[in-house]
Amino acid sequence: MVVGSVLVTGGTGYIGSFTALALLEADYKVVIVDNLYNSSQEVINRIELISGKRPPFYEVDITDEAALDKVFDEHPDIDNVIHFAALKAVGESGEIPLEYYRVNVGGSVSLLRSMTRHNVTNIVFSSSATVYGDATRFPNMIPIPEHCPIGPTNTYGRTKSTVESVITDQIEAQRNNAKKAGKSGEAWNAALLRYFNPAGAHPSGVMGENPLGVPYNLLPLLAQVAIGKREKLLVFGDDYKSKDGTAIRDYIHVLDLAQGHLVALNYLREHHPGVKAWNLGTGKGSTVFEMVKAFSKVVGRDLPYQVAERRQGDVLDLTANPTLANEELKWKTTLTLEDACADLWKWTENNPEGYNQQPPKEFVDA
Ligand code: NAD
Ligand code: WQD
Repeated sequence: MVVGSVLVTGGTGYIGSFTALALLEADYKVVIVDNLYNSSQEVINRIELISGKRPPFYEVDITDEAALDKVFDEHPDIDNVIHFAALKAVGESGEIPLEYYRVNVGGSVSLLRSMTRHNVTNIVFSSSATVYGDATRFPNMIPIPEHCPIGPTNTYGRTKSTVESVITDQIEAQRNNAKKAGKSGEAWNAALLRYFNPAGAHPSGVMGENPLGVPYNLLPLLAQVAIGKREKLLVFGDDYKSKDGTAIRDYIHVLDLAQGHLVALNYLREHHPGVKAWNLGTGKGSTVFEMVKAFSKVVGRDLPYQVAERRQGDVLDLTANPTLANEELKWKTTLTLEDACADLWKWTENNPEGYNQQPPKEFVDA
C-alpha cells in the first residue's frame, strides 16, 4: 500500500538518495528530480539494488519552472516535496554569490510556485546548522536549540536562512488566503530541518557520498587519505578552546538523518503544524582529532595529518540540542560515530571511484 507520494529534489545527491531509500522502504512513492550537477544517475540503480524499487528520475533543473510543472502534471498524486537540490560549497559561495542565490533561493521560489499551482502543500526543506553561525558568541548557546538566533557567517548559510524565510512567508500566506476563502488552510505545512554534520554510508557498501571534484568535508577527505588519493589531512587549527584544541562538530549518520526526514514528513501530514524548524543532530560533539582517531581505528592504521592554520569562517563548536526533534518527532539517532566511520570505509574500499564503477560484486551476487 502506498502511503503518499513525494517529489524529492536533489534526490540523486548524498542525503537525498538516502532519504529516497528511507521513503521507499516506508512505502511512499518517490519521484526524483536532479540536474546531476553534483551527482550521478547510477544512484537510481543503487537505490533499486537495495530496496527492490526503482523511483522515476527526471533530469530537471529546479530553476526551470516549466520542467517542474511537467513533472507534477505527469504525477498528479504527488502531495509532498522534500527539497534537497542546492549548491553547498561554503568557500565557493563567497566567490560566486549570485549563482548561489540563483540556484538555492531562485530554485526554491520556482519550486514553491510550481507546487502552489499544483496544490502540493507539504514541503520538507534541507536547511543547515550553518544558519546559526557562531553560537558560542555571548550568550553561549551550545548545545544549540532551535531558538538560538540565526546569524549565518557565509553566503551559503545566508541562502539557507533566506529560503527558510521564503518558505515561512509562503506557507503563512497560503494559510491566510485559505482562511479568507472560508477554508482551514491547515494543509499548508513546512519542516525546516537544520542538519548538523552528515556522515557515513549505507552499511552494504553500495551507497555513499560521491562528491564530484575535490571534497570539502572532513570525513570524505579522511577517506581519500586512507585510500591513498591524498597524502595527509590538514587539521584546520589546534588552538580552539576545546579539550584537544581542535574544533567540535556533531556528526550524524546519514541513515539517521534520512529517518529524520521521514518522521518530519509524517509529522506534517498528521499534525498540520504550519512551519516548524527542527535540529537533526546527535547532541554529542566530537573534535577533529577524535574523528581522525575514530576513522584511523576502522582503517586499522594511523592516518597522517598535519596541523595547519584555522580555516576562514570556521567556528569552535556546532553541537545540536536535538531535544525538540526527540520529543515532537519521537526521533533519536541510533547509530554511532564508529558506525559512520565503518560504513564510510566500507563504501570507500568498495567504490574507490564512487558511482563511476560497478556495484560491489558480492552485493550483486547476493
Ligand atoms: P549533494 O550535492 O550531494 O546533493 C545536492 C543535489 O542537488 C545534487 O545531486 C545536485 O546535483 C543537485 N542540484 C544542484 N543544483 C541543482 C539544480 N539547479 N537543479 C536540480 N538539482 C540540483 O549535497 P547533500 O550533501 O546531499 O546536500 C543536500 C542538501 O542538504 C543541500 O540542500 C545542502 O545544502 C543541505 N545540507 C547539506 C549538509 C552537508 O554537510 N552535506 C549539511 C546541511 C545541509
Ligand atoms: C568539519 C571540521 C573543519 C576539513 C560544513 C558546512 C556546513 C554543513 C556541513 C552544509 C571543521 C575540520 C575539515 C579538513 C579539517 N554543510 N576540517 N580539515 O565546516 O563543520 O560544515 O559542512 O550545510 O554548512 O559549513 O564541516 O566537514 O568541512 O569540517 O580540519 O580538511 O573539520 O575545520 O572543524 P563544517 P567540514
